[in-house]
Amino acid sequence: MTFRVAVLASGRGSNFEVLADRIRKTRDPAARPREGSSPIWEVALLLTDREGIPVLERAQERGIPGQVIPPDADRPETVPERMLESLSKAQVDLVVLAGYLRLVPAPVVSRFRGRMLNIHPALLPSFGGQGMYGRRVHEAVIASGARVSGVTVHMVDEEYDRGRILAQWPVPVLPSDDPDSLAERIHQIEHWIYPTAVDELARAVSEGREPSPIPRDGLHFHLGPLIPGSPGTGEPEFQPGPSS
Ligand code: GRF
Repeated sequence: MTFRVAVLASGRGSNFEVLADRIRKTRDPAARPREGSSPIWEVALLLTDREGIPVLERAQERGIPGQVIPPDADRPETVPERMLESLSKAQVDLVVLAGYLRLVPAPVVSRFRGRMLNIHPALLPSFGGQGMYGRRVHEAVIASGARVSGVTVHMVDEEYDRGRILAQWPVPVLPSDDPDSLAERIHQIEHWIYPTAVDELARAVSEGREPSPIPRDGLHFHLGPLIPGSPGTGEPEFQPGPSS
């Protein structure tokens, strides 16, 4: 079965792009990494809350339908209904948030409970919650003096950044970092881990179980390329360790 994924995004859309392009690869039988064990999923819909943002262009370039459902000042109560209608029309099975800046309405969370992921550019539960997104997160991390930030992928519930953590990866904060350089290093890890997390969600749903935490074994090999001056080991690649 091919799971149909909706991506909810509000901005640049680099994670959207990686997710959408991963699917093209999984359509090619020769490129499927785990044929037989990994169900195929595809991005079937982009939902956003604002017009004119880059992620809409990225969807259009790929022939993926994009729909804008803005907050409706007059009738905000219709937003959940419109979102549910759009997700249902596109026959969506899984929902993936990638820089979506609004709280997902409770009826949508309820409809997709256990089938919805978010990615956050820090190590939750630190540096999360309402208003903590994008550059603000990296500014707060640097201002705190933390030496380590990271990426968290978690299930979505009714609160910002609160659901069960599925994957978490540390990323070093360097003394020379500003919010842009830290964001760039974090994005590299996001682009590697998010498709892997969606794979695991799809596998878990198809097998009728909870998604398993994604192991972190071997991570030290992957951090090399992200630290200037270190020898590096090439492109980050998911390599489950003994505990997987
Ligand atoms: C990412 O850093 C993600 O963690 C956060 O929003 C950002 C979206 O980036 N939730 P992009 O639009 O996918 O480039």
